[in-house]
Amino acid sequence: MNLIFDTHAHYDDAAFDDDRFDLLDRLFSENVCGIVNQGTDLATSKFSIALAEQFDGMYAAVGIHPECVNENSEKELKEIKELASHKKIAAIGEIGLDYYYDKPKDLQKRIFIAQLMMAKELSLPVNIHDREAHGDMHAILQQYRPKGILHCFSGSVEMAREIVRIGMYIGMGGVVTFKNARKAVDVIREIPLDRLVLETDCPYLSPVPFRGKRNDSSMIQYTAEKIAEIRHTTAEEILILTKENAEKVYQIY
Ligand code: NI
Repeated sequence: MNLIFDTHAHYDDAAFDDDRFDLLDRLFSENVCGIVNQGTDLATSKFSIALAEQFDGMYAAVGIHPECVNENSEKELKEIKELASHKKIAAIGEIGLDYYYDKPKDLQKRIFIAQLMMAKELSLPVNIHDREAHGDMHAILQQYRPKGILHCFSGSVEMAREIVRIGMYIGMGGVVTFKNARKAVDVIREIPLDRLVLETDCPYLSPVPFRGKRNDSSMIQYTAEKIAEIRHTTAEEILILTKENAEKVYQIY
């Protein structure tokens, strides 16, 4: 049985231009049952939908990523909202805050909050990106209380508990297999397994032993093995649980 559900991928990325369809065919015939491809702007949101139309197990998220916000974003959100009515939309994503680069924080917050409200209006979950913005993210999540996933979780155990309390899920990927992943390991030890989902963020963040190489959904196996080791269970058990969680949060039945 195919057990891998990848809750966060970017198969629209140029890294897949040479073999995208062959690769996805192979993944779905081997060990992958579901993938949610994330939009980062209008073009990649449309690409995500086109991919979702090609493969049964592929779903799309549409949204504007904090690194992609600009003065047109507010207008583009109207189109994003129209795209969100497609039958294979699983979420509004990838949305959030990224203070690593120097995009204006006010604009990022405005576009993020507008998308949180849009998701609520459409009864869709969200897929959230938070990089070096934990303080503002925490405050916004407390206020708006979205349903969905905080992807590639990099916060503290305390923040993970807060996310769980709000009712959200925590997305973990290849980073947990890295040697310096002490914080992620602590979070995995502490959070309830019914709030954990797995992801690649491919083509980036391949797990060890493929760190630095192109990532794809099949490599979630290594992430599941590492999490199983931390939680004293089997990779299969982790894959089954996280697949059920993913289907629940994305309302895929
Ligand atoms: Ni991403």
